[in-house]
Amino acid sequence: MTSQIAATALAVFLLGATTASTAMAQEAPKAFNQCKACHKVEAGKNGVGPSLFGIFGHKLGQAPGFKYSEAHLKFAQQTVDEPFLTKYLADPKGTIPGNKMVFAGLKNPDDVKAVIAYLKTLK
Ligand code: HEC
Repeated sequence: MTSQIAATALAVFLLGATTASTAMAQEAPKAFNQCKACHKVEAGKNGVGPSLFGIFGHKLGQAPGFKYSEAHLKFAQQTVDEPFLTKYLADPKGTIPGNKMVFAGLKNPDDVKAVIAYLKTLK
């Protein structure tokens, strides 16, 4: 019962937050600032990297209009879930050798968790 109320309160909060123009800056964990240089979170908006909208729970390499590297597309059958992201965000190059995401990885496991939790909300 209490958790239901909490969930409702959270949903109301999220709904309110997405209508505010500064929503992304408030919602995203600090660690996500490093991703923002290359990734947008709006659907269909690619930057240096593909849009991360709806990425969680889907397969890699699906952002419309983004030109992925061949190395990345070799992993296109991979579902973007928690175990995968835990490895990939800590060590992108080691997880998908030869991919073109020029990012060393998040060294702090708490940052990885916070970013994954945030990615889950992008739908
Ligand atoms: C310097 C630019 C850059 C930074 C910084 C960066 N990325 Fe990326 N990212 C890319 C590029 C480019 C790709 C596509 C890789 C390819 O095609 O080889 C990518 C791919 C991805 C993918 C796979 C997307 C898909 O559709 O298959 C995820 C998930 C991702 N990045 C998350 C993150 C997160 C989270 C961060 C921050 C912790 C981050 N990236 C930081 C450039 C970047």
